[in-house]
Amino acid sequence: MITVRAPATSANLGSGFDVFGAALASPADVVRVEKAERTTIDVTGVGSQFIPEDPDGNTVGAVAEELDAPAHIQIDKGVRPASGLGSSAASAAAAAVALNELYDRGYTREELVPVAAEGEAVVSGVAHADNVAPAIMGGFTVTTGTGTNAVDAEVPLVACLPDIAVSTRDARRVVPDEATMDQLVETVGNAATLTIGMCRSDPELVGVGMEDSVVTPARAELITGYHDVRDAALEAGAKGVTVSGAGPAILAACEADDRRTIAAAMVDAFANEGVESRAYQTRIGEGATIL
Ligand code: HSE
Repeated sequence: MITVRAPATSANLGSGFDVFGAALASPADVVRVEKAERTTIDVTGVGSQFIPEDPDGNTVGAVAEELDAPAHIQIDKGVRPASGLGSSAASAAAAAVALNELYDRGYTREELVPVAAEGEAVVSGVAHADNVAPAIMGGFTVTTGTGTNAVDAEVPLVACLPDIAVSTRDARRVVPDEATMDQLVETVGNAATLTIGMCRSDPELVGVGMEDSVVTPARAELITGYHDVRDAALEAGAKGVTVSGAGPAILAACEADDRRTIAAAMVDAFANEGVESRAYQTRIGEGATIL
């Protein structure tokens, strides 16, 4: 029996749509696997009532299929589904690492990224890897068609999760089909600034690089109170604020000492809109860990 913890993740980080990802130190899913004749799945924990246990409809079922590794798989959810915090990716990443170990498949962490991404396709319809990459490899990740590169970064974060659900499928439907040349130039500049910020563990540069005028404005409309919460976080000292993944979680980059104040400001701003929320005071963390 193998048990693996895989973290919540934040994809996009504003300027890196479908490319950037970051592992969060908390929350996390824990997945336990045991060899079996055919794959069965049990799900417990936060939001488990919304997650299918049929292997054909579950992200980890697809991973077991990809690795030809039938198993009894127990998922203890710490990452709420439809949160923008990589819930399905955490389960897929944990299952990929656990089944690779259980069946001694010999995949490297980087090789497991496309395997776990097949699990993502079950949920969102697209095998995007920007959540599974940091969930498996940890740190800040850049995933492109040629693979994933990861760097460790010491960047404090606050992720505020409102009590509303946004499905990744719906959030992908509002993404504009086109961007102007000005927006392209601006996005490249912001993405490059954010990358330098991560390499230097500099929250200020990371925050500047989170700016995005293409995807984020469209998605902000799906999140009640987004603009007020963003303003509140910036007033409380955040260096940058954006939608986490497909939302509805909102991510702020900041200095460590400001996390508590920013978390309280974000929760208060959601409350003013009649929305309950929970804020995780976290930081960029490690990837899937065999327990
Ligand atoms: N890059 C994906 C999106 C992540 O924004 O749709 C989904 O979690």
